[in-house]
Amino acid sequence: MVGRNLKAGVCAAALVLALPGLASAAPKAVAVQPWANPRLGPDRRADLVLDRLSLDQQIALLHGSMPVFMGPRKPAHVLISAGYFPGIPELGIPELTESDASLGVANAGRKDDDATALPSGVALAATWDAKAAFAAGAMIGKQARQKGFNVLLAGGVNLLRDPRNGRNFEYFGEDPLLAGTLDGAAIAGVQSNHIVSTVKHFALNDQETGRMVLDGQIDEAAFRESDLLAFEIAIETGHPGSVMCAYNRVGGVYACENRFLLTEVLRNDWKYPGWVMSDWGAVHGVAAAKAGLDQESGQQLDKQVFFDAPLKAAVASGEIAAARVREMAHRYLRSLFAAGVVDHPVVAGGLDTASDSRVAGRTAEQAIVLLKNDSGLLPLMKTAKRIVVIGGHADVGVISGGGSSQVIPLGSVAFPKPKGAPQWGGGQVYHPSAPLAAIKARAPGAVVTFNDGSDLATAVALARSADVVVVFATQWSTEGMDIAARLDGAQDTLIAQVAAANPKTVVVLETAGPVAMPWQGGVGAILEAWYSGGRGGEAIGKLLFGEVGPQGRLPMTFPASEKQFARAVLPGSDQNIVETLTPSAAKPFDVTYTEGSDVGYRAFAKSGATPLFPFGYGLSYTAFRYSGLTVTGGKTLTARFTVTNTGKRPGTDTPQLYLTAAPRRSQQRLIGWSKVSLRPGEARVVSVTAPRRMLADWRGHGWTLDAGAYRVAVGPDAATPTLKGSAKVAAAWLKP
Ligand code: BGC
Repeated sequence: MVGRNLKAGVCAAALVLALPGLASAAPKAVAVQPWANPRLGPDRRADLVLDRLSLDQQIALLHGSMPVFMGPRKPAHVLISAGYFPGIPELGIPELTESDASLGVANAGRKDDDATALPSGVALAATWDAKAAFAAGAMIGKQARQKGFNVLLAGGVNLLRDPRNGRNFEYFGEDPLLAGTLDGAAIAGVQSNHIVSTVKHFALNDQETGRMVLDGQIDEAAFRESDLLAFEIAIETGHPGSVMCAYNRVGGVYACENRFLLTEVLRNDWKYPGWVMSDWGAVHGVAAAKAGLDQESGQQLDKQVFFDAPLKAAVASGEIAAARVREMAHRYLRSLFAAGVVDHPVVAGGLDTASDSRVAGRTAEQAIVLLKNDSGLLPLMKTAKRIVVIGGHADVGVISGGGSSQVIPLGSVAFPKPKGAPQWGGGQVYHPSAPLAAIKARAPGAVVTFNDGSDLATAVALARSADVVVVFATQWSTEGMDIAARLDGAQDTLIAQVAAANPKTVVVLETAGPVAMPWQGGVGAILEAWYSGGRGGEAIGKLLFGEVGPQGRLPMTFPASEKQFARAVLPGSDQNIVETLTPSAAKPFDVTYTEGSDVGYRAFAKSGATPLFPFGYGLSYTAFRYSGLTVTGGKTLTARFTVTNTGKRPGTDTPQLYLTAAPRRSQQRLIGWSKVSLRPGEARVVSVTAPRRMLADWRGHGWTLDAGAYRVAVGPDAATPTLKGSAKVAAAWLKP
C-alpha cells in the first residue's frame, strides 16, 4: 500500500507543481488530471474525477474487503486490519486502508505492534477538555498515518443510556453536549493528519446485546435532543470524512438502510457532505443505496456483496438511478480530497512511541476522577513506611477494553477471557504500565508489598499490618457483549474485608464505567481510573502521590443501585446473545427508550433520585468556591461568576452551567462549562455562554426557543446547584 500511495502522491505532487503560476509547467498533465489542483474545492475535484469514471469504476469504489478474508487477492503490502479499498493509481486516487479505532491504532492479531494506547473514550470525556481530546486524536491519527493507514475508524459517540452497554468505554458518556464536543475535537485531531476519521455508530447502537437485530424506538424530538444531538455536534465540530451507520434497526428500519437517518437527518437537515460507510456486516440489500448508504464495508461479512454486481443490476433495471451511484462515489471522493488523503499520501514510518505515550499519560492524568477522600488520605504521604498493594494485576499493568478497538502495545499481557465472551481481540489485555512499579518508584523509603488478592485471609492480614492499603479493582468490558455494572468476581468482598481490617484503604477502580460500590462507606478514598491506557499505571502513581492533582469529572451518573437504571432488565438479555461479526441468530426485539432525552442526570433531576455519584462530579486535592453569579440574556444566556481556589494546593476545577428551567419545559441540561487552573488563594472570573440550541426544544422541524425567563445553576456537578440565576431569552426558531 505504501508503495502505491507513494506513487499516487508523487503523481499528485507533480501535477500540483505543474499548475499555472506554480514552479514548473507541464500543461499536458494539467489537462489530463485537473482534479490535482488543490485550489479547486473538494466537490469540484471529485466531479472532475467522476467525469472520467465508468459506472463499473464508480461501483468499484463503493465496496471493500476485510484484508483477512482476501486470500491470495490481498496485495502483499496490505496489513491485516479492518478494511481495504483499491484505489485508481493511474488517476492519483489512493487506495483506502482502514484501521480501528478511537483509542489508538488497533492491532489485534499483530502482536509485535508498537501502537500507543490512549485511555478509553469515557476517560477522554472525563477530562472535559476539548484541547486534550484534540491532542489525543492528533496522536493516534499520526500513528495511523505512520503505520500506513489513511482512515481511522474512530469517533464512537453513542450515548450512555445504560451502564451495562459493553461498548460504553469507547464512547463519551451520557450528555450530548459534552460527548459531541469532545468526540468532535478528537475527530478533528485525527483528521489534522490528513487522514479520514469516522463518527459512529449512527445511531442508537446503545447496547451490544442483540445489536444486529434490535429495533431502537424513540420519539423523534427526544432523539434529536439526545443521541442525534451528540452526533450533530460531533460532526459540526470535527467534520469527519465519513459517518458509519450502525448494525441495529431504528424505528423498524436497519440503520444502514434508514432514509430518515441517512437522508432526512444527515443530508437534508445537517447538510453533511461526506460519505456514509456501513458497519461491518450491516448491509442487507441494495435498497440501502436508495436510503443513503454510500459504501459497503467489510463486504465478506454481508450475505452478498450488495454494492457490486447487485448494485449494477439495480442500475440496469432502473431500480437505482445511475446518478445516485455517481453521488455515492462523489461523497466518497470529496471526503478524500477534503481530508487531504489525496494530496498527502500516507508514508509509513517515523513512529516515536516515547513521545506519543506521553500524550496518553497526560490524558490519563487529566481523566482520573477522585470520588472520595476521607480525612485527606490522599495524596499518599511519602513518609508511609508500609504500603500494601492488592489485586487488579497491579504488578502487571492496567486493564483495557476488548473488541475491534483493542490496542495491544508491545509488552501487554493477556489473561483468559471469561467463558462466553466474543473471541476476537485476544484475551483480557493489560497494558504494560504497572501501578505497582509507579508506586514503588514514588515511595523509595517504604516497604511496598504486593498481594494478588486471590486469597482473602492473606490479603486481609497484610492490610492489617499496613500504614496504607491500595486495592486495585477491575471490570472488563468488550464489544459484542454487555456487562453487569459491578466489579468482576469476588472483588467487592475483597475490598470490604480489607477496608474493615484497615480503614486507610484507597480503592483504585479500573472500570468501563459506573459500577456498584457496596463497600463505599468503609473505604478511605476512591479513584476512578477508567481504562487508563499505555501510561495508565504511571498516571495513577502520580495522582496517588499528589505529583498531579485530580481534575477528572464524571461524564456519566453513577447510579446508587440497578433500580435507578432506565430499564430494570437489559432488553434481549433473556436470549444470552454474544455477538459475533456474522449474522445473528437472535430473535428481533425492541428497545424502547421511554426515557426519551432524559438520559442520565436529566432523569435523576426529574425523579429526584439520589445517585451514588452525580454526573460532573469529581474531587480535588484543593477546594474551590463559586461566587458572584450574573446571568445575561438576549439571544442566548451568558453566566459570569468567580471561581476561587480556597485550598492549600494548586488545582484545576470544572465549574458547570446547567439549564434548570425554560419557559415551556423544565429539563435539566448541561449548557456549558469551563476549566480553570488556580493557585492557592487565586480567583478568576469565568464566563460561560450557552450554545443557543442547548436552550431550545425540537419543535416544528427546528430548534425552538420560547421567549421568557430561563433559569440556570452553576455548580461542581449536576446535583449541586451552588449559584442560581435567570435571564430572559428572545424567541427564535433555528434551522436544524
Ligand atoms: C464495529 C466497528 C468497527 C468495525 C471494523 C465492527 O464490528 O462495530 O466499530 O469499526 O467492526 O472493525
